[in-house]
Amino acid sequence: MRRKLVAGNWKMHGSLSENEALLSGLLAGMADVKAGVAVCVPFPYLAQVQSRLQGTPIAWGAQNVSQEAKGAFTGEVCASMLKDFSCAYVIVGHSERRAIYGETDGLVADKFAAVQAAGMTPIFCVGETLAEREAGVTQDVVSRQMDAVIAKCGVASLARAVVAYEPVWAIGTGVTASPEQAQAVHAFIRAKVRALDAGVAEGLVIQYGGSMKPNNAVELLGQPDIDGGLIGGAALNVDDFLAICRAG
Ligand code: PGA
Repeated sequence: MRRKLVAGNWKMHGSLSENEALLSGLLAGMADVKAGVAVCVPFPYLAQVQSRLQGTPIAWGAQNVSQEAKGAFTGEVCASMLKDFSCAYVIVGHSERRAIYGETDGLVADKFAAVQAAGMTPIFCVGETLAEREAGVTQDVVSRQMDAVIAKCGVASLARAVVAYEPVWAIGTGVTASPEQAQAVHAFIRAKVRALDAGVAEGLVIQYGGSMKPNNAVELLGQPDIDGGLIGGAALNVDDFLAICRAG
């Protein structure tokens, strides 16, 4: 039985005082949450979440990482630095990084490898744009994105990773994939992995991301192949995020 994982992706939001209010609100409401819960925060706040969340049921992580181990890469942050702050998770390949910062499938695979080499779990994002969905190539796109990681790290690496299916057209738009649309892609992802390794496929946690809110979380998380959520906007509100966590 896969345990559901609900992860907040704070993106470029927060301040020391806002974070403190959010974290203390979340901690106060965790008693009846069965799902695993994590928050992925901006780099400067890792020390804050580490000291606030250590010893609590909420894990933490980052939203990006360098593919390099160390060196003259001004402005970059490497995986061992994230490990220093006891990050459990690192998001790699988010569509905003692919679209705005030009991250390619190959670069995302390198980042995935760097996260695992440092002993953390990548939350590996895949998903199609609206144009790709309308062109009927959703499965091809998701397959290509997954193949880059499988080619570099092997299918067994997915036993130590989380996959997040995030249709780009649903992110931050308020337009959610229907439970049927999401389930279809999740089932496709699992079947693709199953064809290579049935055991890895059964254990693989596949999150849905894209305008998951309290009013659609129960139905989405009730689908057989949806094992959690990667939550953007709703992760910034204590009540909304807790409601989604409780749906898991
Ligand atoms: P959203 O973001 O929940 O605001 O759509 C999800 C994500 O980008 O991970």
